[in-house]
Amino acid sequence: MMEKCYGAAFPEFLFRAMNNLLSIEELSGDQICELLALGHKLKAERGCHTEQPLAGQTWALIFSKSSTRTRVSFEVGVSELGGRPMFLSTRDIQLGRGEPIKDTARVLGRMIHGAIIRTYDQQDVVDFAEYSKLPTINALTDLEHPCQILADLLTIEEQYGVGSWKDMKIAFLGDVDNNMGRSWMWAAKRLGFTLVLAGPEQALPKAETLAALDCPNIICTTDAAEAVRDCMVINTDTWISMGQEAEKGTKEKAFFPYQVNAELLKLAAPGHIVLHCLPAYRGYEITDEVLEANAPVIFREAENRLHAQKAVLYTLANSRKK
Ligand code: CP
Ligand code: NVA
Repeated sequence: MMEKCYGAAFPEFLFRAMNNLLSIEELSGDQICELLALGHKLKAERGCHTEQPLAGQTWALIFSKSSTRTRVSFEVGVSELGGRPMFLSTRDIQLGRGEPIKDTARVLGRMIHGAIIRTYDQQDVVDFAEYSKLPTINALTDLEHPCQILADLLTIEEQYGVGSWKDMKIAFLGDVDNNMGRSWMWAAKRLGFTLVLAGPEQALPKAETLAALDCPNIICTTDAAEAVRDCMVINTDTWISMGQEAEKGTKEKAFFPYQVNAELLKLAAPGHIVLHCLPAYRGYEITDEVLEANAPVIFREAENRLHAQKAVLYTLANSRKK
């Protein structure tokens, strides 16, 4: 068990230097494990922190897409670490009227201490980090959703034990080549667990993506039953990601065979868990019955956004001090 109210400085080894969190791809397996260890610790000690690594700092949340979990967990997390969150919707700032990201970045870089960005194009997050010189966090782009994956990995470790990755078999069903799917693929590459991706042929990762990953523990299939068989973690996400609303009609029909429902879950490993990053569309990627039956773990997964992201904020703040 982790100590409660640890209070003292964290051991040096937990702070492998990290300048930004732009993707799971850019993290090493060791960095992911360190962030998870710190996430568990910060969760166990919530309300007892004596360190305030963000004291005197302002961190901007620059969002071009809707959010409940990410916005709230970052606003709370920055505050709990002693900083001040500043929410900036692109509907309100000049970025939304066409001011270039590199100009916005150079202005904010002179005023604030860190940025958390939710947007469409990954390049915008990369450019912001480069031009602002601020620690920058990807809070979801069309390419990746690294903060969600860290929370999901934390939830799996809570369930099955720390460091149990090599023997783990995880299925992700539905729109598997979306931001969640890509972050899952990089996590599988870095941690070595078996990841089975199941969706209609047109939604599976392209051959060149898989070749670039060069990861034999990632398996793609169009057979949902084969995917969930003996899996310990069954995971899904909306079939229609933000910004893809125009594809709703054409996409939905092809995805119904990949719905996470009670019949399909009979094939999963005994004691399996179901994860969903939320928001969920009941009756589409997951049934109401399955979501409610798995609500304790799914809402703990949502809560773990806070703890995982505090680990990221903590690590970024301490990396800059070095
Ligand atoms: N899972 C997730 O990122 O939720 P929000 O869109 O509500 O932030
Ligand atoms: N793939 C989803 C994730 C939502 C948290 C989207 O991008 O809308």
